[in-house]
Amino acid sequence: MLLYHVVSNWQLAMARKKNILLGVNVDHVATLRQVRGTSYPDPVEIALIAEENGADSITVHLREDRRHIQDTDVERLIRLVKTRVNLEMALNDEIIDFACSVKPSDCCLVPEKRQELTTEGGLDVFSQMDHLAEASERLKKSGIRVAYFVDPEPKQIESSRMAGAEVVELHTGTYAEALSQKQIKYELNRIRECAAHGTKIGLKVHAGHGLHYENTAQIAAISEILELNIGHAIVAKSLDLGIAKAVADMKKIMLGAR
Ligand code: PXP
Repeated sequence: MLLYHVVSNWQLAMARKKNILLGVNVDHVATLRQVRGTSYPDPVEIALIAEENGADSITVHLREDRRHIQDTDVERLIRLVKTRVNLEMALNDEIIDFACSVKPSDCCLVPEKRQELTTEGGLDVFSQMDHLAEASERLKKSGIRVAYFVDPEPKQIESSRMAGAEVVELHTGTYAEALSQKQIKYELNRIRECAAHGTKIGLKVHAGHGLHYENTAQIAAISEILELNIGHAIVAKSLDLGIAKAVADMKKIMLGAR
C-alpha cells in the first residue's frame, strides 16, 4: 500500500512536471514576408506545421503599425488553427474591437512602442488599471481568455489579478539577457517567486520572451509555469535545420533547366 502511494505520488508529480504547453510565435515569419512584399513565407502555413509538430497554441502580435502580422493573417489563423490562437496586442481600442470581432481563444495585452525592435518590458498594470479592466471585460464578454504580459514583480501580478486578468505571462527578457551566473540566478528566483505567487492568488502563469535552446529548460522546470511562448529562436532554428534542403532544391532546378 505504501509502495502504491509512493508510486502514484511520483506519477502525479511527473505528470504535473510534464504539464507544460508551447505557444509558437510566428511573427518573424511574417517579418520576412513583409520586407519583400511577397506572399511567402506564409505565417499561417508555418503555424499549421508547428501545430502538427507539438505546438499547443499559435501566438501572433498584431502591432499598431502592422509591421509583420496583418489582420488577414489573424483571421486565417483563427479559421485554420486547430489548437488555440493567442493574439498579442497593445491596449488599443481599434485592435480590441478587431479581437472582439474575430474572437481568438486568447488575447495577451502587451505594452507597445513604435520605435522598439520587440516588446521591451511588461505592462505597467498598476498605472492603467481602469483602462485595462475595461478592455479585459470587453474581451472576456467575447469569450476570450485575457492575459497580461508583465515583468516578474509582485505588484504587477497583484494588479493584474485586480484588473481582471485570468493569466499573467511573465516577461523572461531580463533573465534571457543576464550575463553572469549571479544575475541569472537572481532573475530565475524572481520568476520562480512570481510564478508561485501568481498561482497562489488564482492566476494561470505563462512566460516568454528571449527564450532559446540554451535557456528554456530552467524556466520550463518551474512547475507553476503552464505555458511558454517562444518565437524568434524557433524561427531562427528552422533556418539552420532547413537551409541545406532549400539550397539543394534550388540547385536542382537550375541544373535541371540546362
Ligand atoms: N511573449 C510576448 C508577450 C511577446 O511579445 C513575445 C515577442 O513577440 C514573445 C513572447 C516571444 O518572444 P521571442 O520571439 O523572443 O521568443
